[in-house]
Amino acid sequence: MDISEIKHAKLKKWVEETAALCTPKNIYVCDGSKAEYDRLMGHMKDIGMALPVTGRPNSFHFRSDPSDVARVEDRTYISTRSKDEAGPTNNWIDPSELKKIMLGLYKGCMKGRTLYVIPFSMGPIGSPISKVGIEISDSPYVVCNMHIMTRVGSRVLDVLGTDGEFIPCVHSIGAPLEEGQKDAKWPCAPIESKYISHFPEENLIWSYGSGYGGNALLGKKCLALRIASAMARREGWMAEHMLILRLTNPEGRRYHIAAAFPSACGKTNLAMLQPTIPGWKAECIGDDIAWMKIGKDGRLYAINPEAGFFGVAPGTSYDSNPMAMDSLKENVIFTNCAIKDNGEVWWEGMTKDAPAHAIDWKGKDWTPASGTDAAHPNARFTAPASQCPVISPDWENPEGVPIDIFIFGGRRACVVPLVHEATSWQHGVFMGATAASETTAANICDIGNLRRDPFAMKPFCGYNMGDYFKHWVDMGRKLGEKAPRIFYVNWFIKNAEGKFVWPGFGENSRVLKWMCDRIDGKAGAVETPIGLLPTKADLDLAGLNISDNALNQLLFVDQDAYRAEIPDMEKHFNQFGDRLPQELKAELEALKKRLG
Ligand code: OXD
Ligand code: MN
Repeated sequence: MDISEIKHAKLKKWVEETAALCTPKNIYVCDGSKAEYDRLMGHMKDIGMALPVTGRPNSFHFRSDPSDVARVEDRTYISTRSKDEAGPTNNWIDPSELKKIMLGLYKGCMKGRTLYVIPFSMGPIGSPISKVGIEISDSPYVVCNMHIMTRVGSRVLDVLGTDGEFIPCVHSIGAPLEEGQKDAKWPCAPIESKYISHFPEENLIWSYGSGYGGNALLGKKCLALRIASAMARREGWMAEHMLILRLTNPEGRRYHIAAAFPSACGKTNLAMLQPTIPGWKAECIGDDIAWMKIGKDGRLYAINPEAGFFGVAPGTSYDSNPMAMDSLKENVIFTNCAIKDNGEVWWEGMTKDAPAHAIDWKGKDWTPASGTDAAHPNARFTAPASQCPVISPDWENPEGVPIDIFIFGGRRACVVPLVHEATSWQHGVFMGATAASETTAANICDIGNLRRDPFAMKPFCGYNMGDYFKHWVDMGRKLGEKAPRIFYVNWFIKNAEGKFVWPGFGENSRVLKWMCDRIDGKAGAVETPIGLLPTKADLDLAGLNISDNALNQLLFVDQDAYRAEIPDMEKHFNQFGDRLPQELKAELEALKKRLG
């Protein structure tokens, strides 16, 4: 599509101004069609950037520059007028200063390249919970990924009409191409000039220098979490780093669960869980982000704003997540995986045996003796959510699904039991606000090794985290007795030999069943200083081969260990100063008292 076809005056003006600044060779407005996707992918194949993958129709592999392999939290900014508004957990630069730096970088940055205008909807087009974004990007790789991860194209411009609201997102890889210059396979800017900037007070995103994932696919972390979280606070809804799952019991009663876990805690696995308990069924609605609004009936309704999965490949296998594997049969973009001699993709953990030879993510010969990873640990697949065999028929329902249960969690080798339930909404908010995960397995049970990642939102909250806690407290007040119940899980407890005590994966359905039964008043719990725990008898363990010793460890509340963590919780809370809600201070004091 040509720019002259844009009927929205403000949008057209913004595109023209951005083009005047970035001076691209030409401008192209994406229509979102398959033909467009095929054309761009074909072009990237011709220039050697995209490699067709054997055995998976219409699937391609990309290798990024070794410096551009993940989100860059150090170079990610929440740029609000006052530093306090961004809060202690975000990087901050004054908006006028940051804009000056970035305008300098944007000047001429698209030279020799095409400026793509990508109209996209986060959420089903036209849903009352959805938002429209327009990404300007000079990367065809970004366009193709956005086709999968969001709803792109003319349909979005139709919804926008001549004066609809949109969130402007500027993205450049930061690699102008001079006349006659040979292009890099993965052009990008050096790390020190990468900027992933958010201006939440203006609903504006500016990204420069990276072509990878969350730095470049601006609908995901930038819009759907950082900007949306700030909008959600202003407008009274919630934008959360949560998977959404539907469970149906043998009687046909449905439960909807939204769960927040930091990276590397099995979120995608839980989103696609296959219950091992007879008669229970699970469907996936989303694997990363939930947008939630209070519905007419006073309950909280969630949609998945995304249209695809941008999942971590290493560790994904037919053992760990068969549903994810089955989602990857065709129409997939792989990034930074290994390529076997027959042209198939491979990554660590995909199969029991590694191939005898492969080309690694850097494009070099690799054998198991190389002593390096064949696939980058953050290698990714981008796949349409519609390809997941257990995607819910309601995953695109514009009204969303009513949430019954919130789950928080993290990776802890000890201290935190398998599951506990909050005694109230406020207590649940405290659990979310103090959620923590071990960053490495190097020295398990060492508190110094803990990263507090409140609500798994530390890298994604677009405003002061203290105010975010308050927003959670306030939402509970609004929801009253219709508020979802809150639980905390830890699938990662280890025994003295360093082995996982709980089998995890599909067996996690036993823990989810207890939660559902709690809601229906069918399952018991014991009160402990940290919350409500099941006894062995409260969990459905039929057919599971697990020792009494193991269960004792899984359901043990180590009060001494909890007491030892109090100073770290206090330090964590103190950073928010006056912005820490009184309610959370009170919860911490109450916990201290209960622990004695
Ligand atoms: C993601 C993340 O990519 O949370 O989803 O890092
Ligand atoms: Mn995520």
